[in-house]
This record gives sequence, C-alpha cells and structure tokens, in this order.
Amino acid sequence: MSRKIIIDTDPGQDDAVAILLALASPENVDVLGITAVAGNVPLPLTQKNARIVCELAGKVNVPVFAGCDAPLKRKLVTAEHVHGKTGLDGPQLADPTMPLQDKHAVDFIIDTLRHEPPGSVTLCPLGPLTNIATAFVRAPEIAGRVREIVLMGGAYFEVGNITPAAEFNIYVDPEAADIVFRSGVPITVMPLDVTHKALTTAPHVAGFRAMGTDVGRMVAEWTDFFERFDKQKYGSAGAPLHDPCVIAYLIEPALFSGREVNVEIETQSELTMGMTVADWWGVTAREKNAMFMGDLDADGFFGLLTERLARL
Ligand code: RIB
Ligand code: CA
Repeated sequence: MSRKIIIDTDPGQDDAVAILLALASPENVDVLGITAVAGNVPLPLTQKNARIVCELAGKVNVPVFAGCDAPLKRKLVTAEHVHGKTGLDGPQLADPTMPLQDKHAVDFIIDTLRHEPPGSVTLCPLGPLTNIATAFVRAPEIAGRVREIVLMGGAYFEVGNITPAAEFNIYVDPEAADIVFRSGVPITVMPLDVTHKALTTAPHVAGFRAMGTDVGRMVAEWTDFFERFDKQKYGSAGAPLHDPCVIAYLIEPALFSGREVNVEIETQSELTMGMTVADWWGVTAREKNAMFMGDLDADGFFGLLTERLARL
C-alpha cells in the first residue's frame, strides 16, 4: 500500500532527483501534489522547475502548485551560488508546457489534509518550511491530521552549510521551522549529518549516464554541476544528494539510522540563527520531538536510486 505524500520543494538539482525517485516509485509513494516554495531560487523558478521535472518523468498529471514567495518574517536568501541562476543549471532545459495549478500551495495542503482520512498523508518538505508553517498557522486543526513529516533540513555534528551554525533550509525561514518543530506532528529529519554521506562519487554518476535515458543523462549533468560547491567547500568526493534521502526513507527506512531527540530552532541570535539545536546526548529534559537521522547505507541508497531512476 503506497503512502500518500505531498512534496514541498525548492528545485534545486537535488530536489529534482528526489521528485524523480518518488515519481518512479508508485508502489511506495502516491504523490498527491507538488508544492513549490521560494528557497534555492525565487518562487517563479521553483514552480517552473517542479513542472520541468514532472515532464521529464513523463508524469504531467501530477498537480504542481506555487506557494509562498518569501519567508514568514525575513528577507529571502537564495542559493544560486550552489544551484546556478535557474536552480537546475547543468543541462539545457526546455520550458514546461504542463500548467501550474491556480490554487495556492498552502490552500492545497490545507484542503488535502482536511479531506484525506486523518493520519493518511505524509508531508515531505525539501526546502524552507514556509508553506508548511503557513498552513499550520492558517488551519491549526490540520496538524493533528498529518501522518508524519519527513524533511530534509538541519544539522548537528555537521554544523552549517550556509552559515557556520545553520543548514540552508532552516536558515532561510527559522520562524517557520520553529512552528513545524513545535507542532506535535511526528517528524523524521534528514540533516546534513546523513545527507553528506550520500555523495555522488564518479562511479555513481557513471551509473546514471550508463542508463542511456534522458533521466540518467539529466541526473548526471545535474550532479556534475551541483557537486562543485561541496567539492570546493568540503573537498568531498561528490555532490551530497540531500533531498532524495527523504524519499528513499519512505521506500526503504532500513537504509537509515538515527535517534529520537529534542530539536529546537534558534530564532533569536543572529550569530546562530537557524541552528537546529539537537539534544543528541540527552543532557536536557526537553521533550523528544524528532527522529534525527545520523547514518545511511550509502551503497544501498545508490542501488535503490539507480534501480528506480532507470524505470523512467
Ligand atoms: O542544505 C541543503 C538543502 O538546501 C537542500 O534541500 C537543497 O536543495 C537546498 O534546498
Ligand atoms: Ca531543496
């Protein structure tokens, strides 16, 4: 029985691979809709990129919605230095022809959670949490109807990738993250601690190219482009596939291991703004509110990813 999910996203090359993995896995996930949010690049680009990816997967019936174009309280910070000006730099891409839905993404999230059976929908945020938090503020009763939130964001042992203390998705909208982490919804977190172990090394990229499909070629060209930032900054052996970890968890949770801990979000200090303060060692009595992942079977992850992408 596949899980009903909403993917909330700011494509971004790694978001694109996550969306492809989900659309290639109908026996595991039923994508009710894709909601775009401002993040890696501004909203006009993230909603366009989400449609480009759906068309690449040949899944033009998946409804794509545009959501919030700025964080709750702060000026938007984007990441063109990582993802390029379009957000999907690497290959040449044609404009999408599938339509954008008229309904606002936040209204789609609220309506879906109100109409689907309680506890049947999983939210999969892959970018800043602005859409999710806005939905919870506008319709507080829907939080109790969410099965689980599985999100990419935060860091503890890996510390920050946009500031010394904060990971990008949380840093862009820390107030939104604070609302989500205090919502009481069961949360599974894919932080940099685990996504930095999902590196697209040369053999993996060669495996994408060896598929001989448009999808394989696109993913190889996206990861070739996307890895520059992390190779230069961390000297890593490839691009960290952050967002696909969320979808891989839904398909094969045993690939991941972590710990139930308390996670709170810094929203006051400019020095540590957006930091996910995870009580990994249980030194406080704060309530445990998140499964915080720390380790990954990287070979199993790439085996799953390659097998599924080859279906498209
Ligand atoms: O810090 C990594 C996260 O920020 C990923 O989701 C990437 O797509 C960007 O949104
Ligand atoms: Ca993302």
